[in-house]
Amino acid sequence: MIRLDVERCYPPGRVDALVQIAFQEGDRRPRLEGLRALAGGDIIPEGGAGFSARERETILLFPKNLAAPRLLLVGAGSAVGWSAERLRRSAALAARALRSAGVRSAAFMEPGAAMLAPLGDDAPGTYGTALAEGVFLGLYRFDRYRTVRTSPPEPLDRLVILAGSAENERAMRKGVAYARTVCEATCLARDLSNAPPNEMYPGTLADAARAAGRRSGFSVSVHDERRIRALGMGGLLGVGGGSARPPRLIVMRYGGRTPRRGDVRRSRPVVLVGKGVTFDSGGISIKPSAGMAEMKMDMAGGAAVIGVMQAAASLGLAGPLVGIVPAAENLPGPAAFRPGDILRHANGMTSEVDNTDAEGRLMLADALAFASTLRPALVIDMATLTGAVVVALAHVATGMLGTDQRAMRALEDSGRRVYERVWELPLFEEYEALIRSDVADVKNTGGRWGGAIAAAMFVKRFAGDTPWVHLDIAGTAILEEGSDYTVKGGSGVGVRLLVDFLRRRTAQQ
Ligand code: BES
Ligand code: MN
Ligand code: ZN
Repeated sequence: MIRLDVERCYPPGRVDALVQIAFQEGDRRPRLEGLRALAGGDIIPEGGAGFSARERETILLFPKNLAAPRLLLVGAGSAVGWSAERLRRSAALAARALRSAGVRSAAFMEPGAAMLAPLGDDAPGTYGTALAEGVFLGLYRFDRYRTVRTSPPEPLDRLVILAGSAENERAMRKGVAYARTVCEATCLARDLSNAPPNEMYPGTLADAARAAGRRSGFSVSVHDERRIRALGMGGLLGVGGGSARPPRLIVMRYGGRTPRRGDVRRSRPVVLVGKGVTFDSGGISIKPSAGMAEMKMDMAGGAAVIGVMQAAASLGLAGPLVGIVPAAENLPGPAAFRPGDILRHANGMTSEVDNTDAEGRLMLADALAFASTLRPALVIDMATLTGAVVVALAHVATGMLGTDQRAMRALEDSGRRVYERVWELPLFEEYEALIRSDVADVKNTGGRWGGAIAAAMFVKRFAGDTPWVHLDIAGTAILEEGSDYTVKGGSGVGVRLLVDFLRRRTAQQ
């Protein structure tokens, strides 16, 4: 990721451009006056050359005597309703504009009071985090498989945030450092999601988890097919049966700070479970070919869990934290599982396979049964589980269902803060009927209606009494088009959400 420094005032080292994020009203004039002063002359065209600071408007000026040869003005719209999210978007827009203009280095002018005040208690810290998130996430591209370069020969490689005061500088530095860690983890989740399925399969997903563990300091054990069988995980084995690439169970552990003696609460882990279907063809209940390639991202939940483990370890959040990723490739083949099969899960429960394309819940069942044996304080699973959740919430919000009300309220809070919003759907007992089976304990499909709920009802059976939250990220993890700081493909959703959630939990302990 790009170098992003914080300096108190204009850096001694020259930069190619200054960046001013400007409001339509009030704040804009004094800022421009400040720039005139910096330039030592009246070089900014009156009114900013027709620039009116509407949201997403940018203009690149070439003033003669400014402290830098170029000036990028970024419209931020009205100061009314300014938020961290609008700053993220403006910063991403700025970074992308600088990159496409072939600028190599630039400094963001210090923010005025109108830009800081709405950001809350730790406004400078929040400013640093949001600006840096916009930059880091907005500059992300998945281009490692391109052999023909399209970017300018001298890429954007250094940005500076001007803080204005020593106090702001300290807070902004902290904010930027946090953003770097969570964005590295988010971009890791994006990379893993976007990786092609001929290279990203259960074994290589496990390798990626091991590498992340080595880099950031958490332990990883990978269970192969024999061990998975010994654990009784018939769901994971069934789903993985049709592929020449055998399934894996990835278990990650991060201890965190040493628990205080006698502190029982701390020793109960938070367990994160992520669906790791490295390619979902649907199996024998095969999907239509249009759009099937997207199903390389059906391991986005697993990728997010690996990302959260990396960030939590890097940040030294309170543990213990356990990450579990059941990984398999869902393909038709001579040894594939089939509609009509009855599978036996790790807790002894049985499920009837009505449709091999409802595979995620079968693997989550085993992972949740396994998680329950760890006596967790809380289990959160993340899964690209249903097309139905995309019908309900599009790509805007993550579907949330679960039994731990407090955790769900906290996740809603975190979701608003990091702008990875979650929306709760109900688990009324009437929905139980959807997954009733004539021949086994549960059936893996629920018919035409309430698909996201039916899937969650299935998973709930395996959570037992454990406080549990399910996040259906099918819409938010896989994007059909990019936006201000996302690109088409894997979004890495869930990483910033859960790291914020865990960090706040840490703060409460
Ligand atoms: N991985 C898919 C869900 C999905 C769909 C994720 C679209 C992202 C975008 C899942 O395994 C699946 O195929 N679900 C089926 C369930 C059905 C057969 C009961 C679905 O949603 O159609
Ligand atoms: Mn499927
Ligand atoms: Zn799937």
